[in-house]
Parts: sequence; structure tokens; C-alpha cells
Amino acid sequence: MNLKYNGFYKHDYLTRLDLVLGRINNAENSKVIIDGNYDSKFKNIIENYLTNYQLPEGIATNLVVNDREYMVPMVTEEPSVIAACSNGSKLLSDNGGISATVISNLVDGQIILKSKTPETVEQYVTENQANLVKVANLSHPSIKNYARGALSVATRRLDGQYMSLDVTVDAGEAMGANIVNSMLEAVKSYLQDELANVEVLMAILTNDSHHALVKVKGKTSLNQLSTRSMSGKIVGQKISEASYIAKIDAVRATTHNKGIMNGIDAAAIALGNDWRALESAVHSFAVKDGRYQGLTDWQIDDEYLVGEMTIPIPIGFIGGATRVLPLAKINQEIAQVSDSEQEMMLIASVGLAQNLAALKALVTEGIQRGHMGLAVKSAVIANGATPDEVEKVVKMLAKTGQHDSETIKKVINNFRKESNKHG
Ligand code: MEV
Repeated sequence: MNLKYNGFYKHDYLTRLDLVLGRINNAENSKVIIDGNYDSKFKNIIENYLTNYQLPEGIATNLVVNDREYMVPMVTEEPSVIAACSNGSKLLSDNGGISATVISNLVDGQIILKSKTPETVEQYVTENQANLVKVANLSHPSIKNYARGALSVATRRLDGQYMSLDVTVDAGEAMGANIVNSMLEAVKSYLQDELANVEVLMAILTNDSHHALVKVKGKTSLNQLSTRSMSGKIVGQKISEASYIAKIDAVRATTHNKGIMNGIDAAAIALGNDWRALESAVHSFAVKDGRYQGLTDWQIDDEYLVGEMTIPIPIGFIGGATRVLPLAKINQEIAQVSDSEQEMMLIASVGLAQNLAALKALVTEGIQRGHMGLAVKSAVIANGATPDEVEKVVKMLAKTGQHDSETIKKVINNFRKESNKHG
């Protein structure tokens, strides 16, 4: 196929912009948006940089973790996420807040090997463990200034001939991807020289972050869960049942965990983290027992509903996006987190609060009511209302009882006609 845009990266910015605009109907308006969000700072960060894609950032409140009150910067386009996080946090903070502990904060990587005699590789690794750890650390000499560096090397058989050489690293305050990958490549070359009959397929960190685990626990009094039509005890019981259903039904667990990630991703993005790494770690952890399960557990205990969750939170406090995205640093200051473990605990706590709010809504009034307030605003904006018109259009729309695009457009038109009439 004759590829029209092959070599796109060779063009200067204005030529690239023209090529892009050539594909767009309303090129004039789009140019203003694309160009208006261009920031030359980023042209060396990603290939074919075009513009900055904006997502809204807001602040969730009421979250108390280990006796400290947090403001949580969250980046999300989903209207109800921040309100839900603040609501869930309030329920938990009224009852002592969330207690969080970091179980471990390490990064792992793997080197995939192929050998007809795996037992000789196992023996070699056992006998040369300290040496291999040294090779890993020498590839990143400065690591010892701020962390323990590579800690251990172990073999794992994958089948009759393939094996994984797992390297565990303490990367300190960094997320560790670059550190671990350079260590792995150093060990990989060393092995290639040392082991004649072993083929080395590849070396890469693993996003299976079972060594970056946080445990969070919180409770809310049953009284506080009551609604106009349901007692707190019934609501608490239903939330507990909902968490049980997510343990036994993978179909439900997927949505249950998506709700947890609504909060976790939003906070992780705001704090400058690789949310794809988090997503893949969390879902891999959710299936660790051979069946995909919900990550939270809510149980009634006397007059309380008590929630618990253990979850991998592979993040970094320094390096990566925190170096290049100015808001990531600012958001760390807003949240007042000062190291990676505090940030891990904060992000995991957001997930627990988010889940409580989602389950409460689901077993009581349903999700639509809460969602719709803000979702209607988004829909009104998406259908052309200006920021000044939104509130009034939403009010007029409420009278119609509908919120489909056609009705919204009609209401916006009527609103404009009325406004023009009254000058
Ligand atoms: C919506 O984004 C998230 C929920 O579906 C989560 C859940 O069902 O638990 C409300």
C-alpha cells in the first residue's frame, strides 16, 4: 500500500498541522483549538507532537487516610467520579477514616530464557545469585544512593524449555521502569556471554506488580447509610451482598473494579503516573486466584459496614511524567504527598471510597440519578451550549423530562430565541 503519511515525523510542525487539518471539516475552528493548545515544551517528549489534549481536573475532598485529611486532585472526564469519591470519603472519614499500609514497594522484571537443560540454568542462578544482583546494580551505579537496588534473582519454569529469570528491585521513589529495564538488559548480556547453551529471548519489567501492594481498610456506621426509603442496616447488607456478588461473578466484578479504577486512574493521572501500568497490574491481580474477582470486601460488623481492599499500586513519586508535566508536581503539592508510599496509600484509599459510593448508589437509588445531574450538563455542553447558558438550559431541559441530543438542541435554540427577545 502506498502510505500517504509515512515519514510524517520529518515534516515541521506547521506542515504536519496542515496535513492534519486537511482531514477535518471545520478546519478553521479546529485549527484554533489545536494550535491554541500547542506547547513547544512537549515537542521533544512524544513523536509527531500535535497539541495538548485537555481533560478536566477537579478536587475530591473529605478523604482521611491514616489520620490525615487529603485534597485529592483527580483528572477525569466522567461527570460523577469526583462527587462520588468525596461522598464515599465522607462516610469513611466520619468513622475514623481509612487506615492504609504498604505491604511492599518493589518492582520486578523478567528475562525470558530458552534452554534444553533448565536444571543447569537453575543451578547456575542459585550459585551466581549474588553476582547477578551485582551485575544488575552496576548497570545503574547511582541507585545505591537512593534505594537498595536489585535485591534478588530467581528462576521460574514456564514449560519444558522456557524459563523466566525474575529480578526484584527496590527502585526507591521512582516508578522504576527505566531502572529495571536497564538492569535486565545488563543481566541479559551477561548471561548471553556466560551461558553458551541458553537462548535469551527478551528482557522487560513486568507490570504484574505483586510486590507493590497496599492494604486499605475503613468503616462507616450503618446509621449513616440510611436513605429516605431504606434503613442503614438494609443498605449496609446490600452493599455487603454487592461485594460478594463481585467475588463470585466475573461479569459483575469487571464493572465493580472499573468503578474502583474510576477513582484510582483519575488520581494516578493527576499525580503524573503511568495509569496503563496500574490498570494492567490491578486486573492481573484481580485474577490471581484463577478467577477474575472484585477487589473490595464489605462486611457488616456490629453497627458498622467495614470495607477492605488489597491492591497493587505501582507508581513513582519522582521521574517519569512528574518531571515533564508541570501539573503533576503541583498536584503532588495540593495532595501534600511527600513520597511514593504515601502516594500509594492515598491512591488505594481513593479506590475504596469510590467503590463505597458506587455500591451505595447501586443498591439504593441506582446510578442514573446521581450520574444524570452532571451528565446532563456534559450533554448540554456537547450539544453546543456556552458555559453561560448551561445552568439555564439544564433547568429548561428538566421540564421536558428528556435529555437526548435532539431535545437538548431544541431547548438550546428556544433558550436563545427567548434571550434574544428579551434583549
Ligand atoms: C461507572 O463508571 C462505575 C460503576 O458502574 C461502578 C460499579 O458498578 O460498581 C458505577
